[in-house]
Amino acid sequence: MAGNKAVAYVGKGTVEVQDIDYPDFVLHDGPGVNKANVGREVHHGVILKNVATNICGSDQHMVRGRTTAPEGLVLGHEITGEVVETGRDVEFVHVGDLVSVPFNIACGRCRNCKEGKTGICLNVNPDRPGSAYGYVDMGGWVGGQAEYVMVPYADWNVLKFPDRDRAMEKILDLAMLSDIFPTGFHGCVSAGVTVGSTVYIAGAGPVGLAAAASAQLLGAAVVIVGDLNPERLAQARSFGCETVDVSQGDPKEQIAEILGVPEVDCGVDAVGFEARGHGRDAETEKPAAVLNSLMDLTRAGGALGIPGLYVTGDPGAADEAARQGSLSLRIGLGWAKSHAFTTGQCPVMRYHRQLMMAILHDRVHIADAVNATPIPLAEAPRGYEEFDQGAARKYVLDPHGLLSAH
Ligand SMILES: NC(=O)c1ccc[n+]([C@@H]2O[C@H](COP(=O)([O-])OP(=O)(O)OC[C@H]3O[C@@H](n4cnc5c(N)ncnc54)[C@H](O)[C@@H]3O)[C@@H](O)[C@H]2O)c1
Ligand SMILES: [Zn+2]
Ligand SMILES: [Zn+2]
Repeated sequence: MAGNKAVAYVGKGTVEVQDIDYPDFVLHDGPGVNKANVGREVHHGVILKNVATNICGSDQHMVRGRTTAPEGLVLGHEITGEVVETGRDVEFVHVGDLVSVPFNIACGRCRNCKEGKTGICLNVNPDRPGSAYGYVDMGGWVGGQAEYVMVPYADWNVLKFPDRDRAMEKILDLAMLSDIFPTGFHGCVSAGVTVGSTVYIAGAGPVGLAAAASAQLLGAAVVIVGDLNPERLAQARSFGCETVDVSQGDPKEQIAEILGVPEVDCGVDAVGFEARGHGRDAETEKPAAVLNSLMDLTRAGGALGIPGLYVTGDPGAADEAARQGSLSLRIGLGWAKSHAFTTGQCPVMRYHRQLMMAILHDRVHIADAVNATPIPLAEAPRGYEEFDQGAARKYVLDPHGLLSAH
């Protein structure tokens, strides 16, 4: 039987490529596996040979030691691959299919799945609603930054690319369908972005850049991206966004210079709980900075899309309240302006087919927008390190050399 190499979190600041077991259709005990999931049989699953598996800012929260992720956890929730084996109960997915996997694991049978809320499936994680591959507190499904991975409820979860050869021509773009493109798009949709909107997106990491490309696709008049990383801001300008440098001061003032008015129609938080402050506070972590500034600069009656991640437990937080995930939010301001808020995991399945079609028919160039950069699986530790230092890149691991071959 084939072996399996995978990227594991081995302690604060460090990941390592390890030999792990080749997947099968049972959940085995291991780091981060919920006891109630051990022994669970998943004959509705498929095994994928991974073609592309991306490193995400969500992984960085774990690797920076800002979650309760256990050492030895195999990482990776952004998976694109070829089906090499199907479980006994799989009906409509076949060996040889090239598929995108939503990072959310969903059963397709529970109340939330039936309502399209696949980010909070009730049946896949004994700890709480919602699950993902290779993630802390998500049930213990083995991560996909690996040569091979098992994907449960395959008939429901995977998106098959209609034409294999055409898909391989755009594989770096399609690799963004497992998470950041739908996530950025969802951030914009839930912020109300439409034709003619003015949009402020906090964060020029891959999710912020994907949100910016999404806002353009949705017809926004002006897309403004904020960050304090000059290289990432330059990346946002490379495809037509306006930018603000939040280390220079409050984004609201710079937005007024761009738009002539100090407010936008739609606000998107693509930063999350590790947010830095603005202006003189830019050196310090201020976990509520983005949410408070979005309430300040989004018009009354507007909406905030909040894909940026907030946690229920943060061992690295600066104060006791934040350690429990409690932040000092100026909720009165949002209330006074009748803001709507949408938080949580993106329900990828709601968007991935449409966005696949937009990619395949050249309506959007998401890989260029986020500067998708393939690297061998063996170089994952370097990818993590450079990404952590703020490289303006989305690292895509290439476990079988299939990306470099293209
Ligand atoms: N909701 C979901 O389904 C979902 C999916 C994927 C990622 N995420 C989350 O989205 C967030 C972004 O992901 P990413 O991969 O782009 O991460 P990232 O860490 O690469 O990017 C975050 C960026 O925010 C910038 N930043 C920090 N403070 C800021 C501020 N006050 N204003 C503006 N920018 C600021 C940082 O410099 C960095 O460039 C993370 O929290 C991630 O966990 C959520
Ligand atoms: Zn991700
Ligand atoms: Zn479900």
